[in-house]
Amino acid sequence: MAEKDLPFDIESIVNKALEELNGMDRDADLEKWRLKYFGRKGIFADLTGSIPKIEQSLRPIAGTKINSAKRQLNAAFEEKKKRVSCGVEANSEIKMNFTLSGLKPDYGSLHPITLVSREIVRIFHGLGFGVHTGPEIETDFYNFEALNMPVDHPARDMWDTFYLDSKRKILLRTHTSPVQIRVLEKLPVPLRIIAIGKTFRRDAFDASHSPVFHQVEGLMVGYDITFSNLKAVLAFFLRELFGPEIKIRFLPSYFPFTEPSAEISISCVICGGKGCQTCAWSGWLEILGAGMVHPEVFRKSGLKDPRLTGFAFGAGIDRIAMIKYRIDDIRHLSFNDIRFLNQFR
Ligand code: DAH
Repeated sequence: MAEKDLPFDIESIVNKALEELNGMDRDADLEKWRLKYFGRKGIFADLTGSIPKIEQSLRPIAGTKINSAKRQLNAAFEEKKKRVSCGVEANSEIKMNFTLSGLKPDYGSLHPITLVSREIVRIFHGLGFGVHTGPEIETDFYNFEALNMPVDHPARDMWDTFYLDSKRKILLRTHTSPVQIRVLEKLPVPLRIIAIGKTFRRDAFDASHSPVFHQVEGLMVGYDITFSNLKAVLAFFLRELFGPEIKIRFLPSYFPFTEPSAEISISCVICGGKGCQTCAWSGWLEILGAGMVHPEVFRKSGLKDPRLTGFAFGAGIDRIAMIKYRIDDIRHLSFNDIRFLNQFR
Protein backbone atom coordinates (compact mmCIF):
# COMPACT_ATOMS: atom_id res chain seq x y z
CA MET A 1 0.00 0.00 0.00
CA ALA A 2 1.28 3.45 -0.84
CA GLU A 3 0.36 7.06 -1.50
CA LYS A 4 -1.31 6.31 -4.80
CA ASP A 5 -3.76 4.10 -2.91
CA LEU A 6 -5.19 7.03 -0.92
CA PRO A 7 -8.91 7.56 -1.58
CA PHE A 8 -8.30 11.25 -2.52
CA ASP A 9 -5.94 13.18 -4.79
CA ILE A 10 -4.61 15.93 -2.53
CA GLU A 11 -2.48 17.52 -5.22
CA SER A 12 -5.38 18.26 -7.53
CA ILE A 13 -7.41 19.64 -4.58
CA VAL A 14 -4.59 22.04 -3.76
CA ASN A 15 -4.13 23.06 -7.37
CA LYS A 16 -7.81 23.75 -7.82
CA ALA A 17 -7.98 25.77 -4.59
CA LEU A 18 -4.97 27.86 -5.59
CA GLU A 19 -6.43 28.47 -9.02
CA GLU A 20 -9.71 29.71 -7.53
CA LEU A 21 -7.87 31.91 -5.06
CA ASN A 22 -5.75 33.39 -7.80
CA GLY A 23 -8.71 34.82 -9.70
CA MET A 24 -10.21 36.59 -6.66
CA ASP A 25 -10.03 40.29 -5.83
CA ARG A 26 -12.92 40.81 -3.40
CA ASP A 27 -13.12 40.18 0.32
CA ALA A 28 -16.54 38.49 0.01
CA ASP A 29 -15.18 35.90 -2.48
CA LEU A 30 -12.23 35.20 -0.22
CA GLU A 31 -14.57 34.44 2.64
CA LYS A 32 -16.60 32.04 0.49
CA TRP A 33 -13.39 30.30 -0.51
CA ARG A 34 -12.29 30.01 3.13
CA LEU A 35 -15.61 28.39 4.11
CA LYS A 36 -15.50 26.04 1.13
CA TYR A 37 -12.11 24.66 2.10
CA PHE A 38 -11.73 25.30 5.82
CA GLY A 39 -15.28 25.73 7.09
CA ARG A 40 -16.76 23.28 9.60
CA LYS A 41 -18.34 21.39 6.72
CA GLY A 42 -15.60 22.26 4.26
CA ILE A 43 -13.47 20.06 2.08
CA PHE A 44 -10.63 19.75 4.60
CA ALA A 45 -13.03 18.83 7.40
CA ASP A 46 -14.29 16.04 5.17
CA LEU A 47 -10.79 14.89 4.33
CA THR A 48 -9.80 14.78 8.00
CA GLY A 49 -13.03 13.00 8.83
CA SER A 50 -12.28 10.35 6.25
CA ILE A 51 -8.99 9.30 7.83
CA PRO A 52 -10.46 6.61 10.17
CA LYS A 53 -12.00 4.95 7.13
CA ILE A 54 -8.65 4.61 5.43
CA GLU A 55 -6.61 1.48 5.66
CA GLN A 56 -4.56 1.55 8.89
CA SER A 57 -1.03 1.74 7.42
CA LEU A 58 -1.99 4.66 5.15
CA ARG A 59 -3.42 6.90 7.88
CA PRO A 60 -0.15 8.62 8.89
CA ILE A 61 0.62 9.40 5.27
CA ALA A 62 -2.88 10.78 4.76
CA GLY A 63 -2.55 12.95 7.92
CA THR A 64 0.81 14.39 6.85
CA LYS A 65 -0.45 15.09 3.32
CA ILE A 66 -3.58 16.85 4.56
CA ASN A 67 -1.66 18.99 7.07
CA SER A 68 0.95 20.19 4.63
CA ALA A 69 -1.75 21.02 2.06
CA LYS A 70 -3.62 23.02 4.71
CA ARG A 71 -0.45 24.94 5.61
CA GLN A 72 0.24 25.74 1.98
CA LEU A 73 -3.30 26.96 1.29
CA ASN A 74 -3.47 28.96 4.50
CA ALA A 75 -0.31 30.85 3.62
CA ALA A 76 -1.62 31.57 0.12
CA PHE A 77 -4.93 32.75 1.60
CA GLU A 78 -3.29 35.20 4.07
CA GLU A 79 -1.07 36.61 1.35
CA LYS A 80 -4.05 37.11 -0.97
CA LYS A 81 -6.06 38.76 1.79
CA LYS A 82 -3.28 41.28 2.37
CA ARG A 83 -3.08 42.12 -1.32
CA VAL A 84 -6.83 42.60 -1.60
CA SER A 85 -7.00 44.88 1.46
CA CYS A 86 -4.08 47.02 0.20
CA GLY A 87 -5.75 47.45 -3.17
CA VAL A 88 -2.85 45.80 -4.96
CA GLU A 89 -5.24 43.53 -6.87
CA ALA A 90 -6.44 45.01 -10.15
CA ASN A 91 -10.15 45.01 -9.35
CA SER A 92 -10.03 45.46 -5.59
CA GLU A 93 -12.91 47.42 -4.14
CA ILE A 94 -10.30 49.43 -2.22
CA LYS A 95 -7.90 50.96 -4.71
CA MET A 96 -5.70 52.64 -2.17
CA ASN A 97 -4.77 52.02 1.40
CA PHE A 98 -5.85 55.10 3.28
CA THR A 99 -4.68 53.69 6.58
CA LEU A 100 -0.98 54.18 5.77
CA SER A 101 0.23 57.21 7.71
CA GLY A 102 1.66 59.92 5.45
CA LEU A 103 5.03 61.59 5.66
CA LYS A 104 4.84 64.93 7.45
CA PRO A 105 6.78 67.50 5.42
CA ASP A 106 8.95 69.73 7.56
CA TYR A 107 8.23 73.41 7.13
CA GLY A 108 10.29 76.51 7.84
CA SER A 109 9.66 79.81 9.55
CA LEU A 110 10.53 83.44 8.97
CA HIS A 111 13.63 84.69 10.74
CA PRO A 112 12.92 87.26 13.49
CA ILE A 113 14.93 89.86 11.51
CA THR A 114 12.64 89.25 8.52
CA LEU A 115 9.55 89.48 10.73
CA VAL A 116 10.63 92.82 12.21
CA SER A 117 11.76 94.18 8.83
CA ARG A 118 8.40 93.35 7.27
CA GLU A 119 6.59 94.97 10.17
CA ILE A 120 8.67 98.16 9.78
CA VAL A 121 8.05 98.24 6.02
CA ARG A 122 4.32 97.78 6.64
CA ILE A 123 4.19 100.72 9.07
CA PHE A 124 6.13 103.11 6.83
CA HIS A 125 4.29 102.01 3.69
CA GLY A 126 1.16 103.14 5.46
CA LEU A 127 2.74 106.59 5.89
CA GLY A 128 3.69 106.79 2.21
CA PHE A 129 7.41 106.02 2.60
CA GLY A 130 9.19 104.21 -0.23
CA VAL A 131 11.59 101.36 0.54
CA HIS A 132 15.24 101.34 -0.58
CA THR A 133 18.27 99.18 0.14
CA GLY A 134 21.51 100.65 -1.22
CA PRO A 135 24.83 98.79 -1.58
CA GLU A 136 26.54 97.02 1.33
CA ILE A 137 29.94 97.90 -0.14
CA GLU A 138 30.28 101.67 0.02
CA THR A 139 32.81 104.37 -0.67
CA ASP A 140 34.26 106.68 1.95
CA PHE A 141 32.32 109.51 0.31
CA TYR A 142 28.85 108.06 0.94
CA ASN A 143 29.56 106.41 4.28
CA PHE A 144 31.41 109.37 5.84
CA GLU A 145 32.27 112.43 3.81
CA ALA A 146 28.86 113.29 2.40
CA LEU A 147 27.45 112.75 5.89
CA ASN A 148 29.53 115.68 7.12
CA MET A 149 32.52 113.65 8.30
CA PRO A 150 35.57 114.68 6.29
CA VAL A 151 38.80 112.67 6.66
CA ASP A 152 40.13 112.80 10.25
CA HIS A 153 36.77 113.96 11.58
CA PRO A 154 36.72 112.64 15.17
CA ALA A 155 33.13 111.37 14.75
CA ARG A 156 34.43 108.64 12.43
CA ASP A 157 35.65 106.89 15.56
CA MET A 158 31.99 106.19 16.39
CA TRP A 159 32.15 103.49 13.71
CA ASP A 160 34.96 100.93 13.67
CA THR A 161 35.19 100.26 9.97
CA PHE A 162 36.00 97.24 7.78
CA TYR A 163 38.05 98.63 4.87
CA LEU A 164 38.32 96.68 1.61
CA ASP A 165 41.30 98.51 0.06
CA SER A 166 44.62 99.83 1.30
CA LYS A 167 43.72 103.46 0.55
CA ARG A 168 40.70 103.19 2.83
CA LYS A 169 38.32 104.46 0.18
CA ILE A 170 36.16 101.33 -0.18
CA LEU A 171 34.52 99.82 2.86
CA LEU A 172 31.59 97.82 4.24
CA ARG A 173 28.97 100.38 5.21
CA THR A 174 28.94 101.00 8.95
CA HIS A 175 25.36 102.29 8.90
CA THR A 176 22.46 102.73 6.45
CA SER A 177 22.86 106.54 6.48
CA PRO A 178 24.78 106.56 3.12
CA VAL A 179 21.49 105.55 1.46
CA GLN A 180 20.26 109.06 2.39
CA ILE A 181 22.86 110.56 0.05
CA ARG A 182 22.18 108.09 -2.76
CA VAL A 183 18.45 108.79 -2.58
CA LEU A 184 18.92 112.58 -2.41
CA GLU A 185 21.17 112.42 -5.49
CA LYS A 186 18.63 110.39 -7.45
CA LEU A 187 15.03 111.16 -6.42
CA PRO A 188 13.18 114.45 -6.77
CA VAL A 189 12.15 116.26 -3.58
CA PRO A 190 9.89 116.24 -1.63
CA LEU A 191 10.55 112.62 -0.72
CA ARG A 192 10.11 110.16 2.12
CA ILE A 193 11.91 106.83 2.19
CA ILE A 194 13.19 104.15 4.51
CA ALA A 195 16.26 102.00 3.82
CA ILE A 196 16.68 98.57 5.38
CA GLY A 197 19.73 96.38 5.19
CA LYS A 198 22.90 94.85 6.58
CA THR A 199 25.57 96.98 8.25
CA PHE A 200 29.08 96.07 9.39
CA ARG A 201 31.41 97.13 12.18
CA ARG A 202 34.64 95.78 13.59
CA ASP A 203 32.93 94.93 16.84
CA ALA A 204 33.35 92.05 19.23
CA PHE A 205 30.97 89.11 18.76
CA ASP A 206 29.35 88.84 22.18
CA ALA A 207 25.89 88.85 23.72
CA SER A 208 25.20 92.45 22.69
CA HIS A 209 27.55 93.06 19.72
CA SER A 210 27.83 91.54 16.28
CA PRO A 211 30.11 92.57 13.38
CA VAL A 212 27.13 92.11 11.04
CA PHE A 213 23.78 93.57 12.00
CA HIS A 214 20.80 95.35 10.43
CA GLN A 215 19.56 98.91 10.41
CA VAL A 216 16.57 100.85 9.22
CA GLU A 217 17.17 104.40 8.06
CA GLY A 218 14.48 106.99 7.48
CA LEU A 219 14.54 110.24 5.53
CA MET A 220 11.81 112.79 4.88
CA VAL A 221 12.69 115.93 2.94
CA GLY A 222 10.53 118.80 1.74
CA TYR A 223 9.87 122.52 2.07
CA ASP A 224 8.01 122.55 5.34
CA ILE A 225 9.38 119.62 7.34
CA THR A 226 9.97 120.45 11.01
CA PHE A 227 11.03 118.71 14.20
CA SER A 228 7.31 118.26 14.98
CA ASN A 229 6.97 116.05 11.91
CA LEU A 230 9.92 113.99 13.14
CA LYS A 231 8.28 113.57 16.55
CA ALA A 232 4.90 112.63 15.09
CA VAL A 233 6.26 110.08 12.61
CA LEU A 234 8.57 108.41 15.12
CA ALA A 235 5.94 108.32 17.89
CA PHE A 236 3.49 106.70 15.47
CA PHE A 237 6.14 104.21 14.33
CA LEU A 238 7.18 103.21 17.85
CA ARG A 239 3.59 102.81 19.09
CA GLU A 240 2.71 100.65 16.08
CA LEU A 241 5.80 98.53 16.68
CA PHE A 242 5.76 98.16 20.48
CA GLY A 243 2.14 98.90 21.41
CA PRO A 244 0.12 102.03 22.22
CA GLU A 245 0.93 101.92 25.95
CA ILE A 246 4.66 102.72 25.68
CA LYS A 247 6.08 106.10 26.70
CA ILE A 248 8.54 107.85 24.39
CA ARG A 249 11.47 110.03 25.47
CA PHE A 250 13.51 112.47 23.34
CA LEU A 251 16.96 113.51 24.62
CA PRO A 252 19.44 115.86 22.93
CA SER A 253 22.32 114.02 21.25
CA TYR A 254 25.01 114.45 18.61
CA PHE A 255 25.38 113.10 15.07
CA PRO A 256 27.47 114.87 12.43
CA PHE A 257 24.71 114.55 9.82
CA THR A 258 21.84 116.02 11.85
CA GLU A 259 21.36 119.30 13.71
CA PRO A 260 19.74 119.31 16.17
CA SER A 261 20.11 115.59 16.96
CA ALA A 262 18.15 113.42 19.35
CA GLU A 263 18.28 109.99 20.87
CA ILE A 264 14.89 108.41 21.37
CA SER A 265 13.97 105.83 23.97
CA ILE A 266 10.83 103.91 24.86
CA SER A 267 9.71 102.92 28.35
CA CYS A 268 11.10 99.45 29.05
CA VAL A 269 8.72 96.83 27.64
CA ILE A 270 9.98 94.24 30.11
CA CYS A 271 9.42 96.09 33.40
CA GLY A 272 7.09 98.83 32.19
CA GLY A 273 9.58 101.49 33.33
CA LYS A 274 10.14 100.35 36.90
CA GLY A 275 13.69 99.21 36.20
CA CYS A 276 15.13 95.78 35.38
CA GLN A 277 18.24 94.13 34.02
CA THR A 278 17.26 94.69 30.36
CA CYS A 279 16.98 98.48 30.77
CA ALA A 280 19.95 98.57 33.17
CA TRP A 281 17.57 99.79 35.89
CA SER A 282 16.90 103.02 34.00
CA GLY A 283 13.33 102.19 32.93
CA TRP A 284 14.20 103.23 29.33
CA LEU A 285 15.40 101.44 26.20
CA GLU A 286 17.25 103.51 23.61
CA ILE A 287 15.87 102.68 20.17
CA LEU A 288 16.58 105.43 17.65
CA GLY A 289 19.01 108.15 16.65
CA ALA A 290 17.42 111.03 14.74
CA GLY A 291 17.55 114.71 13.93
CA MET A 292 17.04 117.44 11.32
CA VAL A 293 19.15 116.88 8.21
CA HIS A 294 22.36 118.95 8.43
CA PRO A 295 22.62 121.58 5.62
CA GLU A 296 26.01 120.12 4.70
CA VAL A 297 24.32 116.80 3.83
CA PHE A 298 22.04 118.57 1.34
CA ARG A 299 25.03 120.43 -0.11
CA LYS A 300 27.10 117.23 -0.56
CA SER A 301 24.10 115.59 -2.26
CA GLY A 302 23.94 118.43 -4.77
CA LEU A 303 20.80 120.10 -3.37
CA LYS A 304 21.28 123.86 -3.20
CA ASP A 305 17.79 125.17 -2.37
CA PRO A 306 18.19 126.78 1.09
CA ARG A 307 14.48 126.35 1.82
CA LEU A 308 14.79 122.54 1.92
CA THR A 309 14.50 120.91 5.33
CA GLY A 310 14.11 117.33 6.43
CA PHE A 311 14.50 114.83 9.20
CA ALA A 312 16.36 111.53 9.35
CA PHE A 313 16.53 108.63 11.76
CA GLY A 314 18.30 105.32 12.20
CA ALA A 315 17.61 102.24 14.33
CA GLY A 316 19.09 98.78 14.84
CA ILE A 317 16.72 96.04 13.69
CA ASP A 318 18.51 93.31 15.67
CA ARG A 319 18.02 95.35 18.82
CA ILE A 320 14.34 95.91 18.04
CA ALA A 321 13.89 92.15 17.42
CA MET A 322 15.67 91.36 20.70
CA ILE A 323 13.40 93.70 22.65
CA LYS A 324 10.22 92.62 20.86
CA TYR A 325 10.85 88.89 21.21
CA ARG A 326 12.81 89.00 24.50
CA ILE A 327 16.00 87.58 22.94
CA ASP A 328 18.84 87.93 25.44
CA ASP A 329 21.82 87.28 23.14
CA ILE A 330 22.32 88.82 19.68
CA ARG A 331 24.27 85.73 18.59
CA HIS A 332 21.03 83.70 18.52
CA LEU A 333 20.12 85.76 15.44
CA SER A 334 23.02 84.38 13.41
CA PHE A 335 23.59 80.87 14.85
CA ASN A 336 20.37 79.65 13.21
CA ASP A 337 19.85 76.92 15.79
CA ILE A 338 16.67 75.17 14.67
CA ARG A 339 15.36 75.08 18.26
CA PHE A 340 15.58 78.89 18.38
CA LEU A 341 14.08 79.46 14.92
CA ASN A 342 11.19 77.05 15.53
CA GLN A 343 9.85 79.46 18.15
CA PHE A 344 8.91 81.93 15.41
CA ARG A 345 6.42 79.69 13.58
N1 DAH B 1 23.68 106.22 11.48
C1 DAH B 1 23.54 106.26 12.90
C2 DAH B 1 24.25 105.07 13.51
O1 DAH B 1 24.59 104.18 12.84
C3 DAH B 1 22.10 106.25 13.31
C4 DAH B 1 21.43 107.54 12.94
C5 DAH B 1 21.37 108.57 13.82
C6 DAH B 1 20.85 107.67 11.71
C7 DAH B 1 20.73 109.77 13.53
C8 DAH B 1 20.23 108.88 11.36
C9 DAH B 1 20.16 109.91 12.31
O2 DAH B 1 19.64 109.07 10.19
O3 DAH B 1 19.53 111.07 11.95
O4 DAH B 1 24.46 105.04 14.69
